[in-house]
Amino acid sequence: MNAAPSLAWDGAPAAEEPVLPMKPETPRAIHLKDYRPPAYLIDKVALDFDLDKTRTRVRSRLSVRPNPDARGKAGALKPVPLRLDGENLELASIALDLKPLGKKDYRLTDSGLTLLKPPSEPFTLEIVTFVDPEANKALSGLYRTNNVYCTQCEAEGFRRITYFLDRPDVLATYTVRIEADPNEAPILLSNGNLLERGVLQGGKRHYAVWRDPFPKPCYLFALVGGDLAPIASSFRTMSGREVALGIYVEHGKEERAAWAMDSLKRAMRWDEQRFGREYDLDVFNIVAVSDFNMGAMENKGLNVFNDRLLLASPETATDTIFEAIEAVIAHEYFHNWTGDRITCRDWFQLCLKEGLTVFRDQEFSADERSATVQRIVDVRQLKTHQFAEDAGPLAHPVRPESYIEINNFYTATVYEKGAEVVRMLQPLLGSEDFRRGMDLYFERHDGEAATVEDFVRCFEDVSGIDLTQFRLWYSQAGTPELVCALRYDKGKKTAELDIEQVLPATPGQPHKKPLHIPVKLGLLSGNGDELALKLDSGETVPDGILPLTKRKHTFRFVDVPSRPVPSLLREFSAPVNVTIDLSDRDVEFLMANDGDLFNRWQAANSFATRTLVDMVSILAQGKSSARGNRYAKALGATIVSDALEPAYRAEVLKLPTQADVARVIGKNVDPALIHRAHRALSRMIGRALGDTLETLYASMAGNGAFSPDAASAGRRALRNAALTLLSARGGKADAARLAKHYADATNMTDRAHALFLLAAEGGPAAERALADFRDTWMHDNVVIDTWFAAQAQSPLAGTLKRVEALTRHPLFALTAPNKVRALIGAFAAGNPVQFNRPDGAGYAFHIDQVLALDRINPQIAARMLGAFRSWRTLETGRRGLARKALQRLARSKDLSSDVHEIVSKILEG
Ligand code: PHE
Ligand code: ZN
Repeated sequence: MNAAPSLAWDGAPAAEEPVLPMKPETPRAIHLKDYRPPAYLIDKVALDFDLDKTRTRVRSRLSVRPNPDARGKAGALKPVPLRLDGENLELASIALDLKPLGKKDYRLTDSGLTLLKPPSEPFTLEIVTFVDPEANKALSGLYRTNNVYCTQCEAEGFRRITYFLDRPDVLATYTVRIEADPNEAPILLSNGNLLERGVLQGGKRHYAVWRDPFPKPCYLFALVGGDLAPIASSFRTMSGREVALGIYVEHGKEERAAWAMDSLKRAMRWDEQRFGREYDLDVFNIVAVSDFNMGAMENKGLNVFNDRLLLASPETATDTIFEAIEAVIAHEYFHNWTGDRITCRDWFQLCLKEGLTVFRDQEFSADERSATVQRIVDVRQLKTHQFAEDAGPLAHPVRPESYIEINNFYTATVYEKGAEVVRMLQPLLGSEDFRRGMDLYFERHDGEAATVEDFVRCFEDVSGIDLTQFRLWYSQAGTPELVCALRYDKGKKTAELDIEQVLPATPGQPHKKPLHIPVKLGLLSGNGDELALKLDSGETVPDGILPLTKRKHTFRFVDVPSRPVPSLLREFSAPVNVTIDLSDRDVEFLMANDGDLFNRWQAANSFATRTLVDMVSILAQGKSSARGNRYAKALGATIVSDALEPAYRAEVLKLPTQADVARVIGKNVDPALIHRAHRALSRMIGRALGDTLETLYASMAGNGAFSPDAASAGRRALRNAALTLLSARGGKADAARLAKHYADATNMTDRAHALFLLAAEGGPAAERALADFRDTWMHDNVVIDTWFAAQAQSPLAGTLKRVEALTRHPLFALTAPNKVRALIGAFAAGNPVQFNRPDGAGYAFHIDQVLALDRINPQIAARMLGAFRSWRTLETGRRGLARKALQRLARSKDLSSDVHEIVSKILEG
């Protein structure tokens, strides 16, 4: 007898299920602590699709059995109801062991189907549903984009295809039959290996059967049907198996898939060499689609990509896109092991696959390109997005404890900070034990749905190190601040370094425990030499890594011959903010002498940031300042050094973004003042280093054919960074140089760079370039997005009007996420000065867009709302206007749970 049946249930008791379909009034939060194993398991799934634009039939045959691990203590056999998730489905029939079920055997609601008295022995369930792909604009489930049928099931899209246990801990093998009109959909793809294909009805229909032998959760299911052009290649794995590689794109775009194919092969080889991971199926397919909510998706053996992150040629894609394609191709491929072979037990464990896979793709890019530059790019991204998120109302732990809508948790914190947490294991354990821990994880959990605890335990088991405190990184939100101070005693030749962890309160977490933090450091002598790190305890500091565990530490270094300059948090060894009182001279010294190149960049970046912060407060007093000249001078020395690779020097030349400065200022932010300070500093640097920049601009010019390799891209980046600063001077010759840069560009990197700069200046030259760009690319769905974004990001006063007009442009559509991101996203998140107009019109416009979008695609609407994540740090006037706009949204009727969750949190926090 089962005394406590609720333990084994994954849903509410049947008696409490509403009889009539109804929508939940207030969306309910789901909590990690409530996790229960599913009451039933599904071992095998056979799907049969009859593709039709508006009425696709889905027949699903499930092999179901009660879950032995979900029974009560006494091993009770009393069957519990089986609740299947389902949304937006038309149920045609349901049969149990071939016997059709009647209405009294199950309950149907808007969110699922409950079998009231399932057998206690294994059984088969056959369900037929109809779905409307054409009407599906949320782009979750089965939908059509650009005449192609495709699916997106992560996180909870499978329930929009058929009734199922839509949760990642239900693993099944899938056989998928797809039938379609061969003219409409000559290509039919699904996960795994192709078993069979054939023609039906004398050629009026055709079909394909795919089988994936690896058990997987339904979020990894995928299907594609359409008229696509294949690019084929092959890869021989480390054990000598031949894998057929296919990339499917729009006809005529085949050449633009070459870079993705090349990246895929390099990623496959790298995972073998670096992590010993081999690919497991006979085929690996990738499909590019035009409308996609995210960047790409790791469906087993059938990755689906946003075409923006797959198609590239020198004429159409910037170096940044080439780099992103390489990274995302690798990321999705790496998921085959970290995500697919080992998946997540529940969605709270999202970082288990995402943080780990981001870490892996970052390491891949570091190996393929420059490790230092890669680290700079990744840290910049982390600070801009994750640190900002962590400091505001949307802050949440890397592993959240509750959510209303899981789609709102594909965040910078889960992805980027999640990757940093994995990365910290390396300095804490050493790289050998780190690799052994990864090996153990793959061996121990292959074929399972795992948790963060499972992952961390592998590292404990191989190293013997207790990671109890380290686990707090997964549960505590907020960016720790390390408050540091260094004292030197000339007489005793000692240096004392105090480090205190300050852990800011975040929503729902007022008090925090100290974290386990690896701080990598060096001490530099006056001539730039690295001083030996000897502690007074007699211990050394291996690899310069100090593992912090307490709230306050004082490290006492002995035999320090002269006053040292500290180089802290080398390689960004932990996702924290560091504060230490260093003079301009010390920072200049680090910029010029630090043996850790990453920290040389960090010194330059913090010098630029503090300069900008100072300039803002001087401007706020109505004064003007020459504060920037000192920074300009320090910069000059770095950028001429031929010992430093161009890509690195380009990173040093780039100023912190306005958003970064706003984040550091942290309260009473006036975006208009930051914009003015930013412009003023660019102009000062342009003037002070004019000759140097002109020389760089000339010497970095390309000669010969375009190549997307890292070295060539680095030269273009340095040349374009020089152009930005030269153009900021605003002279006649500068304007001419910029116009010529646009006109003479032989690749999209240079052309797009010039277009953004021109659009920011405005005037006839800008209008000419914009018109030229539009006329050249209006037939290219991907490239034209650059034209939208360049206008949306212009800081000129007329931008909002222009953006409003562009929402009515024939090439714009709210149903196309890439267009929304290029225009509305670029305006709200990439144009601080015009989004934050003092009259509030930017906010009002944005809220109108979010409201309209919410009717079409709630996931994208909620994401766009993230532009308000730092609204509370604004000065009072703007803060009041932002609040008004947000409150108007919050009061609106029929908000999706996605938008409802974000707007409530933003207003509360
Ligand atoms: N899992 C995808 C990734 O690789 C992201 C994604 C999430 C795509 C949800 C679609 C929907 O990161
Ligand atoms: Zn991912």
